[in-house]
Amino acid sequence: MTSYVLLVAPSANRVYADAAVALTLAELEVLSATVLSGRITELAPVRLAGLPYVGFTAPELSAPEIAIISNASSLYALFARDGDLLRPVELAPLAHFDDDLITIPKYAGKTNEQFTKLLLNVTVASSAWGSSLVDGQLKVLDPLCGRGTTLNQALVYGYDVAGVDLDGKDFEAYGSYLRTYLQRKRIKHQLDANPVRRDKRLVARRLAGSITPADGSRTLAVDVVNADTTAATDFFKPETFHAIVADAPYGVAHGSRTVAAGLRRSPLQLLTEAVPGWTRLLRPGGALGISWNTLVARREDAAAVLAAAGLTVLEDGPYGRFRHRVDASITRDILVATRR
Ligand SMILES: C[S@@+](CC[C@H](N)C(=O)[O-])C[C@H]1O[C@@H](n2cnc3c(N)ncnc32)[C@H](O)[C@@H]1O
Repeated sequence: MTSYVLLVAPSANRVYADAAVALTLAELEVLSATVLSGRITELAPVRLAGLPYVGFTAPELSAPEIAIISNASSLYALFARDGDLLRPVELAPLAHFDDDLITIPKYAGKTNEQFTKLLLNVTVASSAWGSSLVDGQLKVLDPLCGRGTTLNQALVYGYDVAGVDLDGKDFEAYGSYLRTYLQRKRIKHQLDANPVRRDKRLVARRLAGSITPADGSRTLAVDVVNADTTAATDFFKPETFHAIVADAPYGVAHGSRTVAAGLRRSPLQLLTEAVPGWTRLLRPGGALGISWNTLVARREDAAAVLAAAGLTVLEDGPYGRFRHRVDASITRDILVATRR
């Protein structure tokens, strides 16, 4: 057995304050149980020369296992421990696009990048396609996509992405950011924004097309709809997605913009209305991961909404250890559920 220590990114310590190590432990425990055949054991916080690490024991990690761990959301560096010495482990994170695709956009209401990656990781790993986390071209939907943090992370992973958001400004900002980014980096793409009409009535706008990352390994589909997410089934075929990942509105105002009526629903009301449709869009074996503010909706109530839609909520072990404080008005938690 080899003893490893993972150095948590300094930025994660800033974002999560005291919770960075606990969240990394929970994420690695999910990855171990789902996609690493339980081979990571003895997960525990470790302090070395005054710095916080996450320690674990495993048989000598294989290249495919290192590839999975390389994508852990708070990972900065990984070392194998040899007595007092640390041997750096060469990492191989997924990078079909540069990280700046995710980090460049800055706006009020953006979901933290590391947290977005955490939610995507634990959701995909918990689906029946967990073993394809690093080499599959999975289809991921963020049905509350805002300006696309999840979509951009999923593109970096080489997945096909789809999104829904009711906010017209977010829809426009995402489309124009993505186009500008791809043009500037000379990445081959074809993206068209078009109105969606039913019975001659405008019901939505849609940004759709494809992107071929510079590595040429695949062509990725992009499909983002500006509409109410409770109508998501009007825009996508049933059983399309391997994973659905959403950071629900926090129920606290970000600025004083006037908002469309649909944006004023409480998070729990929104989930109650939307989750049945989202569930139909998941493939059997697919997983739904949501995050929300527990100060406005209790975990039991959010879990009951997922269970009422026929999903199996994962509550055991690490799945119950993602709760963390964001600020005085937000304590965030994660629920992951699978479709049979
Ligand atoms: C916490 S934000 C998600 C931010 C996103 N992850 C990002 O980083 O840009 C929640 C999003 O839900 C959207 N939203 C709220 N109610 C909605 C509804 N009924 N239909 C579609 N989108 C909705 C909001 O416009 C907002 O963009």
